[in-house]
Amino acid sequence: MNEEIYEQYRRAGRVLGKALSAGAKMVKEGVRYLDVAEEIERIISSEAGLSFPVNISVNEVAAHYTPSLNDSLKFKKGDVVKIDAGSHVNGYIGDSALTVEVGSNENEHIIKASEEALQEAIEIVRAGVSIAEIGETIEKKIKSYGLRPVKNLQGHSLERYNLHAGLSIPNVSNNNGRKLKEGEVIAIEPFATNGSGYVVDRENGNIYLLKSRAKGRIADEMRKKFDGLPFASRWMEGIVGWDKVNMTLAFMLRRRAVYAYKKLVEVDGGIVAQTEHTLLVKKDGCEVLTSREKT
Ligand code: CO
Repeated sequence: MNEEIYEQYRRAGRVLGKALSAGAKMVKEGVRYLDVAEEIERIISSEAGLSFPVNISVNEVAAHYTPSLNDSLKFKKGDVVKIDAGSHVNGYIGDSALTVEVGSNENEHIIKASEEALQEAIEIVRAGVSIAEIGETIEKKIKSYGLRPVKNLQGHSLERYNLHAGLSIPNVSNNNGRKLKEGEVIAIEPFATNGSGYVVDRENGNIYLLKSRAKGRIADEMRKKFDGLPFASRWMEGIVGWDKVNMTLAFMLRRRAVYAYKKLVEVDGGIVAQTEHTLLVKKDGCEVLTSREKT
């Protein structure tokens, strides 16, 4: 891969870091999820594209919830809030997440466990390190806090316009001897929980993907606007009137023209924290593409 491509990854990562830092500062008791999601998306959009809707997943919800069109949910004291966001420049994606606790520090150890697990993984990432070594490092750190990693949520490799490309990077010990190669771009995202470490599908999380089989004027406009990447139901406003969004998506879902992501919830109702960065694998280490100022 050439330097020009890495430069685009860096641009995507830089604005994402900035947007996440700003978003994290907004998370306070009484603030709407929707306002935080829209502000992060606004900042990313000022310099890059959105590679997926801002996920705001609270407490036992691990991932795949974005606010709906007129979502009235507000943060409450003690909430453990994961913000996972994605940008792209010309299809070169940044993917990053952080966790904050609202007005309390009762679950600080869960957040720290995921942050430190990511930090230790970053320290060992270089060309030649195996997927197994990364999983083991993450699991060990999280378990040292008396917690569990979520075993069915994984990091992943990134390719142009492809958020989850070929590689999966588990947060637990595994026997994948595949070694990372110089120039690969990967996202590592340890999830730590005080539950049993397993997430299950629940209700619709307002995140969709247009399928290639979808036909017609609306599908064509969606394809152009979303670049084949996941989108939020709220982003349909403008393609159809706001009052037609839910009806249109329900219709397309029945026709299997779209795929709906389900909210992922910890099976025991355990509190979940997540931290994620996108990394460029180098010969002697790695470059964090999505770094941000300390929050
Ligand atoms: Co990711």
